[in-house]
Amino acid sequence: MEPRRSGLTLRVEPGRTLLDVVREAVPGVAYSCEEGWCGTRETKVLAGAPAHHDSVLGEDERASRTTTMICVGRAHGPRLVLDG
Ligand code: FES
Repeated sequence: MEPRRSGLTLRVEPGRTLLDVVREAVPGVAYSCEEGWCGTRETKVLAGAPAHHDSVLGEDERASRTTTMICVGRAHGPRLVLDG
């Protein structure tokens, strides 16, 4: 995972969430439910294919692959570039 604005490249091991890894690298990141239903941790996707596991996004938003909830979302493929 690569949060573009921060310039960081972060490795997400199996069993961890994108949010877990971002929180370690960027203290103070806002989040709330961590279950994919509040929308607090919605993050813009700049490249790559997000695997959605939230209950916030509609079908059109999921299909657009332009945003994801990093508390529950994963990636299809080896790389996901986020705006963060
Ligand atoms: S923190 Fe609530 S949707 Fe991710």
